[in-house]
Amino acid sequence: MADKAKLRVFRGNEEGGEFKEYEVETYTGMVVLDAIHEIQAKQAPDLGVRWNCKAGRCGSCSAEINGRPKLMCMTRMSHYPEGEPITVTPMRTFPIIKDLVTDVSFNFEMAKKIPPLAPREKEADGTWRMQQYDIDRIQEFRKCIECFLCQNVCHVLRDHDKKKSFAGPRFFIHLATLEMHPLDTIDRRPMMKEQFGLGLCNITKCCTEVCPEHIGITDNGIIPLKERVADDYYDPVRWLLSKFGGEKKKKRLPVVQEAKGAKPDAKKAEAKKGEASKVEAKKETGAGKAKTG
Ligand code: SF4
Ligand code: SF4
Ligand code: FES
Repeated sequence: MADKAKLRVFRGNEEGGEFKEYEVETYTGMVVLDAIHEIQAKQAPDLGVRWNCKAGRCGSCSAEINGRPKLMCMTRMSHYPEGEPITVTPMRTFPIIKDLVTDVSFNFEMAKKIPPLAPREKEADGTWRMQQYDIDRIQEFRKCIECFLCQNVCHVLRDHDKKKSFAGPRFFIHLATLEMHPLDTIDRRPMMKEQFGLGLCNITKCCTEVCPEHIGITDNGIIPLKERVADDYYDPVRWLLSKFGGEKKKKRLPVVQEAKGAKPDAKKAEAKKGEASKVEAKKETGAGKAKTG
């Protein structure tokens, strides 16, 4: 590869921003995060970037590189054509804090809304017994590193901004982990339908395509959840079974929804205004051209 590479990096905040060009010396094995660190060390010490492990484990360094959602620490510079600038922008779905750092707190708020595992009582000998195949099925979902690249690329959040009524792919696989857990005693199907907007997902699989952990988000998580919800609401045989006690019942919790027509308070209205201006700023700068699902 060439000894030098050009990077076009988004510099700005919630008010707006622009692309700035930097040139860095490259070396074998260099990743995009190395290049960003190089810029930060020698040319732009105020460049904002979030990272932690530099090993694809913490999920902090998510960004859009040449318009594709990626972990900067796992993306080699040699992956891109020599002599062409590499564009690095923040994730478009979340509000920008500074440069490449976005506010992903929506995801943490969503996580709080999901009722945790409620295991059944232990058996007489004080242990729980589970089948290995039940554990194997959910093990895949536990590989999630919470990079939120799947949330970033999902069109329901990215283009339609349904953050109030749609949990997003990361949380669908979390719900799948709980729903398929052999010890769990809560029936989350009404919540998945009413509160977390499972029906809004049209299985485009864009979330699966960008997952750095190669989790089968759609095939192994979302589709089985959709089938479970459909069974619960629309399958007459299941309905009869549940009516006459032929189906093992889990506990149902009340569905919580945002009050319709409720007036947002001043702070929220202000925040919304801020987000609108960020969207405009990103449009102006051309930040975020990733394919969406
Ligand atoms: S399949 Fe498409 S619509 Fe469904 S969660 Fe994934 S990206 Fe979103
Ligand atoms: S499911 Fe994959 S893409 Fe989504 S947050 Fe987890 S690791 Fe990231
Ligand atoms: S720095 Fe931890 S995943 Fe990239």
